Amino acid sequence: MPPDAERLLAATLGDAEVELDLSLRPRVLAEFPGQERVKENLLIAIEAARQRGDALDHILLYGPPGLGKTTLGNIVAREMGVDIRTTSGPAVERPGDLASILTNLKQHDILFIDEVHRLARPVEEILYPAMEDFALDLVIGKGPGARSVRLALPQFTLVGATTRYAMMSAPLRDRFGSVYRLEFYDPPTLALIVRRSAHILGLDLPDAAAAEIARRSRGTPRIANRILRRVRDFAQVRAGGSVDLAATRAALELLNVDDLGLDETDRAVLRCVAEKFAGGPVGLDTIAASISEEPDTIMDVYEPFLLQLGFLQRTPRGRVVTPAAYRHLGLVPSPPLADGQRGLWEDERRGQEGGIA
Ligand SMILES: Nc1ncnc2c1ncn2[C@@H]1O[C@H](COP(=O)(O)OP(=O)(O)OP(=O)(O)O)[C@@H](O)[C@H]1O
Ligand SMILES: [Mg+2]
Repeated sequence: MPPDAERLLAATLGDAEVELDLSLRPRVLAEFPGQERVKENLLIAIEAARQRGDALDHILLYGPPGLGKTTLGNIVAREMGVDIRTTSGPAVERPGDLASILTNLKQHDILFIDEVHRLARPVEEILYPAMEDFALDLVIGKGPGARSVRLALPQFTLVGATTRYAMMSAPLRDRFGSVYRLEFYDPPTLALIVRRSAHILGLDLPDAAAAEIARRSRGTPRIANRILRRVRDFAQVRAGGSVDLAATRAALELLNVDDLGLDETDRAVLRCVAEKFAGGPVGLDTIAASISEEPDTIMDVYEPFLLQLGFLQRTPRGRVVTPAAYRHLGLVPSPPLADGQRGLWEDERRGQEGGIA
């Protein structure tokens, strides 16, 4: 995969991008387009907690990378008028690390834990009574003389974020008062986000260019903002500074982003299943090995959008590509067909032949 495309979809930001990213991040719910259902629920919860003078209930946000989990966590803190302390599952190595974070929180503060599915089990166990009873159970001493003491913690709100809801343990999941799944954004909402970002960057972006970026950003604000920056670079160097539709298309072309927003790796995943494995079913690890990617990256970063497009399906026996994917790649489906797919293909053929089976 070309380095450009890799950075376009990468879940993490390069150093240079961090500062810019901060300036593009919406700070209040009113500035945050999309995710209407989540926002409405959050508004009600925030208002209710503020009226009662309570801490907000614990919140779990899950969904593919770049849809706004971290942004929402920060917005919630701002709207509640409390401080936020941020950490991540793998960063909290020992129970003692978490205990010290918890005891340093102030009343009603927010603790944001990114990749919350990656908390070590002993650390998670500290979290259960902390979330439920705002209590920290400590064991003092060793052997027969050991005794357990319970320390009171400030009433805090845990905001957990994860791309892997299924990998969270049930006891942890159950302790969140509200659980929200973030959805991919539709093109009009992404166009709004792109126009807002262009405004912040001082760019005069025509609506047609914003719509083009929106349509080709895989439903993801982070990718839309990245493409916008690339278009800005391209326009500056190659198009005399004008960020119009032509410059936008040319920049996307250079990035190897196709009409639907798919990049080299997306297409490699589809082509691998379609061509090397006759459409599937084939296991994730096999796909990963054959295109030299990490299985986790494929699962977290690439698959969700391919599933959403209906290009890929997960079956108990592995991944399967659909007729729509073949059409997009310009490939002819290769028989023999997998059992589970037969019905699908027949439906498709019927559709093409005007209902004559
Ligand atoms: N609704 C939105 N409106 C405007 N910008 C948004 C919105 N959602 C996300 N963004 C932008 O996209 C970028 C990525 O968002 P964020 O970091 O919150 O995603 P995330 O879900 O936490 O991703 P990850 O799973 O990789 O941590 C942010 O810089 C933010 O500017
Ligand atoms: Mg995040």
